[in-house]
Amino acid sequence: MLIIFTFALGGSLCGITGRKIIALINIQEGIIWAMAYIVLITLLWPFCVILISIPLGQFSFFKNYLHKVWMKISGRKESKIPLVAILASGAGSNTQKIVDYFNIHTNDGKIQLIVCNKIGAGVLHIAKKNNIDTLLIEKDKFFNTDTYIIEFKKRGVDFIILAGFLWKVPSNLIKAYPDKIINIHPALLPKYGGKGMFGNHVHEAVIASEDTESGITIHYVDELYDHGNIIFQATCKIDEKDTPSSLAQKIHLLEHQHYPIVIANVLKMQNRS
Ligand code: GAR
Repeated sequence: MLIIFTFALGGSLCGITGRKIIALINIQEGIIWAMAYIVLITLLWPFCVILISIPLGQFSFFKNYLHKVWMKISGRKESKIPLVAILASGAGSNTQKIVDYFNIHTNDGKIQLIVCNKIGAGVLHIAKKNNIDTLLIEKDKFFNTDTYIIEFKKRGVDFIILAGFLWKVPSNLIKAYPDKIINIHPALLPKYGGKGMFGNHVHEAVIASEDTESGITIHYVDELYDHGNIIFQATCKIDEKDTPSSLAQKIHLLEHQHYPIVIANVLKMQNRS
């Protein structure tokens, strides 16, 4: 009822304002007057309707309505909010930060699914707390069938994020999501990557090497472990007193600070192209 009322009042306000403006420019009634009036009320109508919708509490309805009309007229496509699946195996501190980010920046993307290969993993609790669907995957089906690709497609997943996922990504999944799977690694690739290089193993190797800096790498996933085009790296200093666990803390801080934002930027970039 209020919506109809807004249309009616907005239309009337538009008609009255249109006549007043034409009277000001002193056009004689006739064909020119009629054409000027039509042009004026077409231009004024959105403003009048929006104005009336505010006191009637219908602002968001009319804002969306006018946005849709404008998209139709201008022939532009509505950009779709990308649906994201997170694949993780562990505690899920990165997953938590990513979920927090997209809970706030809802237009950047939506975490549609959390996929895990470990019963009882922390990441499953994060999913439950945030009402996100989960999928517990089995090794044989993951590596030897398309079962999960079909499942991801069925759920509308557009993009995949690895956040401490410790299985290699099989080539059928990479082919199904070309340039749409990204990973974070807790070192400056190409150093300290490859099979067996995850979590603390990485930090132990870095400390043993006596490097003076370490960092994080966010990269597209290809058929090799910790390989694929690098999207982003950030570094941190290693002090003489650092141990694998103190370095792990520094690295986690860097990951939490950067991963959600880098993901959002990649999603925006891909949505535009
Ligand atoms: C993260 O540090 C991530 O970089 C690492 O696993 C950790 C998961 O922590 N990934 C790898 O080592 C991949 N090779 P989280 O479960 O607290 O997010």
